[in-house]
Amino acid sequence: MNFRTLDTAEVAGKRVLLRADLNVPVRDGRITDLTRLERLTPTIRELADKGARVIVVSHFDRPKGKVVPAMSLRPISAALRDVLGHDVFFADDCVGPVAEEAVARLEPGEVLVMENTRFHAGEEENDPEMARRLAALADIYVNDAFSAAHRAHASTEGVARHLPSMAGRLMQRELEALTAALEHPERPVGAIVGGSKVSTKLELLGNLVGKVDLLVIGGAMANTFLAAQGVAVGKSLQEADMHETARDILARAKQAGCEIMLPVDAVTATEFRAHAPTRTVRIGEVPADAMILDVGPVTVAQLTARLASLRTLVWNGPLGAFETPPFDAATVALALAVAAATDAGKLRSVAGGGDTVAALKHAGVVDRISYVSTAGGAFLEWLEGKLLPGIQALQALEGVIFPA
Ligand code: 3PG
Repeated sequence: MNFRTLDTAEVAGKRVLLRADLNVPVRDGRITDLTRLERLTPTIRELADKGARVIVVSHFDRPKGKVVPAMSLRPISAALRDVLGHDVFFADDCVGPVAEEAVARLEPGEVLVMENTRFHAGEEENDPEMARRLAALADIYVNDAFSAAHRAHASTEGVARHLPSMAGRLMQRELEALTAALEHPERPVGAIVGGSKVSTKLELLGNLVGKVDLLVIGGAMANTFLAAQGVAVGKSLQEADMHETARDILARAKQAGCEIMLPVDAVTATEFRAHAPTRTVRIGEVPADAMILDVGPVTVAQLTARLASLRTLVWNGPLGAFETPPFDAATVALALAVAAATDAGKLRSVAGGGDTVAALKHAGVVDRISYVSTAGGAFLEWLEGKLLPGIQALQALEGVIFPA
C-alpha cells in the first residue's frame, strides 16, 4: 500500500498525536454502539506497548466552534478506558496551555484523550494556526480516523503538513479492504445500493456503473428507476425530478457493460406502519393506493442466485424499510445469503454506511461479512470515487497518489 503504517514507525518515547474518530452514537447520555472504540484499540495498544506517549484527538458531534458541555469527550474517554482496559487521562482542551501541560506529564506507554477538536472554530476551518498548535504537541502524527477522512479539517488534514505522518491500524484495514473491493477487486464484482434517495447517491451510482459488473438497486431508490421507465409504482416514495437522471444512469451502465438489477416483485402496503397488512405483487402490478416497502421473495431468490456468480460484493443501503417489520425481510434474507457465501470463502463482502451496518446487526451477521466499515459519509465518498483529504494528506509527504 502506498502509505506509511505503524510497521516502520519508531515511536518509543515519542509523543504520538493519534487522530481517532470518537464520534460514537449517543442516546440519552448513553453510548449505543462501541464499535468505533473497539476498532481503535489495536492502534492504541500497539503504540502504548511500543512506549509511545499516546495523545488522542477527535471531534464529537457538531458544536460548531463553541464549547458545548454536552458534547465533551470526557465521558467517551471513560468508555474508551473501559474498552481498552488501560488508564486514560483527559485534558480539557486539545491545544494551548492545558493541552501542553497534560502532554508534558505523559510518560511512555500512557494514553491521553484531549477535548473535542470542534470546540475550536479553527478545526473545521482547517486553520493553519490550529494545525500548527496541534502539531506542536507531538513528534509523529498517526491518523486512524478513516470515518473522518472526508473532512479537510485541522486535525485530519492540516496537521499532517507539519509532522511525519502515517496510517493507524484501523485506517490501514479500512483502506486495504476498500481497495480490495473496488480498486483492484477479484471479478465479477457486484454492488448493492439501497436507501431512499437517488439524489443523495447520484455520484456513487455514476462511479459504480464504471467499476462493477453488476449493480443491484434496491430501497425506495429502485422506485425512482422503475417510475423513470414508465412502471406504475402507486403511492411509493420516489423522486419524480430524478427520472431523467435515472435513465441516464441506466444508459451509462449499458455502455459500460454493467448489468443493472431492479426488483421484479415487491411487498406493498397501503399504510406505512409496523405489521401493516401487506400484499406481495409483481412489479408493474402495484395497486394505485399501495406503496412498495420491501423487495419481494422472487427478487430475493434472484439476488441470492446471482451472489454465487460474484467474487466481490460492496453493499451500501438496505433493500427495504428494514427498521419497520415486516419490511426487513428481504434485507435480512440477503444479509444471511451474503454471510453464507462469505463463510464459504466464495465471496469477499464489504459493507458500510450507517443504515447498512444497522441492518447487518439486525440480521445478526456483522461478524460474518469480510469487512464492515466504521465510516458513514467517508464510505459514501469513497464509493463516489473521491480522493479523501485525510488520506491524501497522509500520502502527500510520501509523494505518492492513492487510490492507485
Ligand atoms: C461520522 O460519524 O461520519 C464522522 O465522525 C464524521 O462526522 P461529521 O459528519 O460530523 O463530520
